[in-house]
This record gives sequence, C-alpha cells and structure tokens, in this order.
Amino acid sequence: MAQSSSDQRGTEWWRSAVIYQIYPRSFSDGMGQDGLGDLVGITERLPALVDLGVDAVWLSPFYTSPQKDAGYDVADYCDVDPIFGTLADFEAMQRKVHELGLKLIVDLVPNHTSDQHAWFGAALAAPEGSAERDRYMFRDGSGPHGDLPPNNWQSVFGGAAWTRVTRPDGTPGQWYLHLFDTSQPDLNWQNSWVREQFRDILRFWLDRGVDGFRVDVAHGLIKAEGLPDYTPPADAGSMGGTLGLEPEIEGHAEVDPPTPPYWAQEGVHEIYRDWHRVLEEYGGDRVLCAEAWVEPLAKLANWVRPDEMQQAFNFSYLETAWNGPALRSVIADSLTAFSSVGAPSSWVLSNHDVVRHASRLALTEDNPQGHGIGPKTLGKPVRALGLRRARAATALMLALPGSAYIYQGEELGLPEDVDLPDDARQDPTWFRTNGTRYGRDGCRVPIPWEAAKPDYGFSHVQRSWLPQPTDWGPYARDSQEGLDGSTLELYRSLLSARAANGLGLGEIEWLDGYPDDVVAFRNGAVTVIANTGEAVVPLPAGEVMLSSEPLGVGALPGDTTVWLRG
Ligand code: BGC
Repeated sequence: MAQSSSDQRGTEWWRSAVIYQIYPRSFSDGMGQDGLGDLVGITERLPALVDLGVDAVWLSPFYTSPQKDAGYDVADYCDVDPIFGTLADFEAMQRKVHELGLKLIVDLVPNHTSDQHAWFGAALAAPEGSAERDRYMFRDGSGPHGDLPPNNWQSVFGGAAWTRVTRPDGTPGQWYLHLFDTSQPDLNWQNSWVREQFRDILRFWLDRGVDGFRVDVAHGLIKAEGLPDYTPPADAGSMGGTLGLEPEIEGHAEVDPPTPPYWAQEGVHEIYRDWHRVLEEYGGDRVLCAEAWVEPLAKLANWVRPDEMQQAFNFSYLETAWNGPALRSVIADSLTAFSSVGAPSSWVLSNHDVVRHASRLALTEDNPQGHGIGPKTLGKPVRALGLRRARAATALMLALPGSAYIYQGEELGLPEDVDLPDDARQDPTWFRTNGTRYGRDGCRVPIPWEAAKPDYGFSHVQRSWLPQPTDWGPYARDSQEGLDGSTLELYRSLLSARAANGLGLGEIEWLDGYPDDVVAFRNGAVTVIANTGEAVVPLPAGEVMLSSEPLGVGALPGDTTVWLRG
C-alpha cells in the first residue's frame, strides 16, 4: 500500500522542509566576548547551512533570560538577551536568512516564564488571591499547616514541582507550581490575560517577519481540574516519553498510556486554534510546530488538525530503537496518524534535550529521555558503531515523506560528550538530582568548525561555555569538507538527492521479500533499503545513488542504508 505524508497534499514549504536546529549558545560565538554563541555568529555562519542544503532554521531561545535553563526561562519575550546580541542583530540575522532563501522559526516558551519576569515579580508582590497571582499556579499547601506541597507532582528536572514563597512579613506563604526548575514558574493558561499577552508576543515576532514558531512544552499548558496526585510509571522519560531500547512493535502499546494530569489535557487545543488564527492574519504559510511528548501517534495527531498547528515533532520516531520491525511499524503509524488529519509527518533523531543519535543508537542500557549519559554510565556507546548506525538512520530518515529536523552538529557525526567533567555541567537536571542524572549538557557542547584552532573556531576568544573534547578535530567541519565518505558529505548528498527527487512530498510503497532486520520501500524514483542487522543482505539490481557506508559487490552490509535509482 502506498503511504504519503499527507492526504490533502498542499505545497506549503513546511510539509517537506528540512529544518536545521540552531542552539545559539553552542553554534558560533561571533561577538567573541564570552565563549557563548550569539546572533552575530549565526549570521556569519549561515552560508554553511545553505551549502549543506537545508530549507529553514529553527533557533532555540535567544530572549532576555537569567539562563537558569539555557534560555528556556524567559524574562522578556520581546527582547534579545545581551549575551546573544540585540534586536538589531536579530533583524540583521533574519534579513540574511531570508536573502539566502531560508525560512526562520523561533522558539516560543508559553508553559512557564522565568522567575525574573516582571509578571512573576508582580505576582510575588501582590496579595494572595490577586489578579497578579492568578497569572501563575499559586495554591495553598497541604497538611495541617500548609507546609506540604499542594500535591505529589515531581519536576521534570527532579525534586518537587512546588516551591513555597515567603510573605512580606516573613511568614511562609503559598506554593507555586513549576514543572521544570524552581526558576520557571508555570503560567495559568485558564487566565484570559495570559492568553492575550501571548497573542501579542506572537504578533511581535510575526510583525518582524518570522516564518513560524517551535512551541515549547506544547502538551503542558493546561493542567487537570483539581490538580490530582499522579505517580508516573517507573520507565517514563522526564517529558512523558521513553527512550527505551526494547523494540516497540505493532502500534507501540496495546493500551494507551495513562495521561498525567499535567500533560496532554484537552484544553490545550483551543489555545492552538486561537494561535492558528493569529498566524493566518499574516498569510504566507507560517508554521507552528509542537514540542509535545504525547503517545500514541494517533493522539499526537490532534495537535496538527487543520485548524491547529502545522507540525509536531515525531518523538515516537526519535524514541524507536535501531530495529527493522520497530522502524517499519513507527513509520507506518506516523504516516497513517498524521495523514488522517491532513498533516505531514515530521522526522527527528536528535535535539538539545536527548542523547545525540550518534551515541544513543549504540547504547546498551536503557536511558530515559533527559537522564543523559556521562563518565559513570553503564554500557557506554562504542563510537564507531554509534556513528555507523547514525549515518544509516539519517539516510533512512531523509528518504521519508514529510518534514525532517536536523540538530546542529549531527551533520558532522558528533557523538554525545560522555566525558564532560562534573564541575562543567550546567543543566538544572544535574543539580536538582544531586548528580544522579547527568542531564543534557553532553549534546550541547559547542560545535567544531576548524580543526586546527584551539576551540575549533567556535569563538574568537578561544573559550567555550562547555569544554570541548580534545579529540574532536576529525569531526570539525573543515576536516570533512570535500572528504569522500565524511558524514558532512553524506548529509550534503542526502539533502541534494532528497530535494532533486521530491522525496519530502512523495509517498512510500513498502517492499517485501527482505529479512526482518531490513526496512525497504520505494519513494517515487528512489528505492531505499536500510539494513539494521549485522548480516549482509543481497542488493537488488539498480544504480546506486548513495549509501551510508561503502557497499560490497551486490551486497548491503549491516547497519547501512542505500538509495537506488528505480
Ligand atoms: C525544552 C527544554 C527545556 C524545557 C523547559 C523543553 O522541552 O526543549 O530544553 O528545558 O522545555 O522549557
């Protein structure tokens, strides 16, 4: 049966775009003051992305922020943090993005603000029960003296999800909810004033010409009535998903996983219908992309119904093991689920919150999302195996119809930095769990551009906010440029062949007759065969367009993907 990325196939750019995630603090330090990447650095390096062959960029937050959660703690949604530059630098960057023919997506963080945001300051200064307090989730404590949290919810980063405030007279007051760090109080999305503010924030950036928003924690804005206690299953990842190793075949689970009272509540959808209308005022195919850790895929598809968002990250795909049956199943489920609402599927393997796939795909122990890996992790990935699988996995992903996301550095084959010293770590997860979870710093290390420079050309001051491993020279962009078989050249070839053959808007036809470890399909004029096993598989006749590893004569080695013409 043929499966396409969408039933009502339109031509909007986001249906098939390859979108490159820039994590600003780790991309390029153009201002050269502090070893932190910035907007000037992004502007300077944009030509490298055109050369790679992507269609759009998504920027993680660059807004005013005390940086307690690397910018996902926003103190002013309508300004640029001085560490990243100014609004004028943003405008210069955006002009350049558009001149180069790329689209620009910015991050929107609506679930919570920073505790340094003026709204939270006003809420703390105002009495209990005031309009200012009602913009956040303040509650009385439980227990005879209110000195216990209002419920048992745990923060995604570890520890209780509630913090108690002190009244001006020094006595203990109410508690506020923070699903993430103490410094990230949750907003009350039942409050119409909050909704109005965010419409204005959307318009602020749309007026400046952005092409869309990646919406942070898009499954979390509404909490269940009464905030009931909830204990998640032991294997749940921090955000609701699991990066398991067990192949999940046949539609993931027989029974839908329970819905926590803080994720995936029905009430979020009217918010996105409202935002859809705001984007429509601006025309021009703008996009909202949901970061929603929601399973199963049929439920996630509710985020991309025709009057809501345009895209949702396909974390079920990201979480799938390197395993033939599991991959076939999740690809088929994705195409079915998203096309049932007329949306394209998205595909993603890495981002700033998960172990880089060049390491993750070679892990031998379960590693729930957000826990990270480090020096004491059991079953540390073997680099060569991880890279080989990552290259094959990417070659499979980029042949699929829909939109694909690439995380900066994956085009260089970068592994997770497993040896980051403890005293360099910055992720709140590390601190809130007293070092029992490493968190996400290992995938956030500044990327290498030039092998011969002390900080691999990341910063003019030869510093980087997280130390870079000393053996990253071969991964540097200039080491790989023009080098036959390098990961950079593989990505270039994949992206150019994907565009030339219109694979993003195509449809797939499954091919039978291969061993179980093999994922094989035709997308238009291209036959794609991914061998996730170890045994060599005979190749059918056909001109080889590209392959993730050298091929034997008429043979597809293990952990290798090939694209054939015809
Ligand atoms: C972002 C994370 C962030 C969290 C809280 C996420 O899902 O991607 O990096 O820590 O939201 O904003």
